[in-house]
Amino acid sequence: MRTSSPLRAALLCVALASGAAQATVKTIVLPPDTVQLKPSSLPGYAKAQAQCVACHSAEYMLYQPPSAPRPYWDAMVKRMKNVFKAPVNDADLPDIVDYLVKTYGNEQPK
Ligand code: HEC
Repeated sequence: MRTSSPLRAALLCVALASGAAQATVKTIVLPPDTVQLKPSSLPGYAKAQAQCVACHSAEYMLYQPPSAPRPYWDAMVKRMKNVFKAPVNDADLPDIVDYLVKTYGNEQPK
């Protein structure tokens, strides 16, 4: 039994050392149920990331009908802005609507 305990101590040391190394790397693990907006090269993607997922996750977009046309998304963004006070700049509105209808609505690439 005497021979096994230095080995155990050494293993514990390795475990502690690697634990300490990990602690210095600041990794933020988001909850797994947080749905992200679908990445896109459209300019509205970054704007939607900045202005549309502060209050709720992008999961809300997934529950919208894929047949929803542009005016539906336009009304949605305006409703977020006017009713819930989403900080959407009027200048960004067309880009955000464009991104939404092409990513979640009826202008998605087939
Ligand atoms: C200030 C907080 C806030 C921001 C910012 C916000 N929303 Fe919302 N959103 C809400 C709330 C609250 C609800 C739930 C409304 C309800 O239950 O009727 C909601 C619901 C939704 C829904 C679900 C459908 C519905 O009618 O309820 C969608 C889609 C949506 N938001 C899209 C967006 C988009 C797109 C943006 C960016 C332009 C955005 N939201 C920004 C607060 C926000």
